[in-house]
Amino acid sequence: MADSLEGRISAEHERLEPLFAAAHRALAGEATDPALRALADLRREIETHTAQEDRLYYPALWSLCPEHQERLRRFIQEHERFRGRLAEITRFVTQHELAAAADAFSTFARSFATHEVYEEELLRAIDRSDPWGEDETGASHPA
Ligand SMILES: [Fe+2]
Ligand SMILES: [Fe+2]
Repeated sequence: MADSLEGRISAEHERLEPLFAAAHRALAGEATDPALRALADLRREIETHTAQEDRLYYPALWSLCPEHQERLRRFIQEHERFRGRLAEITRFVTQHELAAAADAFSTFARSFATHEVYEEELLRAIDRSDPWGEDETGASHPA
């Protein structure tokens, strides 16, 4: 379903991809300014995306599906770690340690991609269980 939560979050994940690619490219170079700009762009979008998941999507989901609360809270904890890792990578760049930043960024990007896959899998399973009480026409079930 195009307007499912899984669909919406997958689309947000896809929008992050070019920013990851730009940061990879910038960190492979030798200039710190483009690397800092690319990291700042990515950080801003990741902050927005994870803030939506933390404050909007996941609390709404676990109030509907309390059985998934623990898993959703773990995603939120991972967001906190991701923000910390990005801050650390940015510090490497400001200290002109671009090789260390590029290495750390590769690991970060892999972890983030895995996180996205787990999120999408769980959201797909939740969507299939129809927690919103809608049938395939989008109409709500009668109470
Ligand atoms: Fe997430
Ligand atoms: Fe996400």
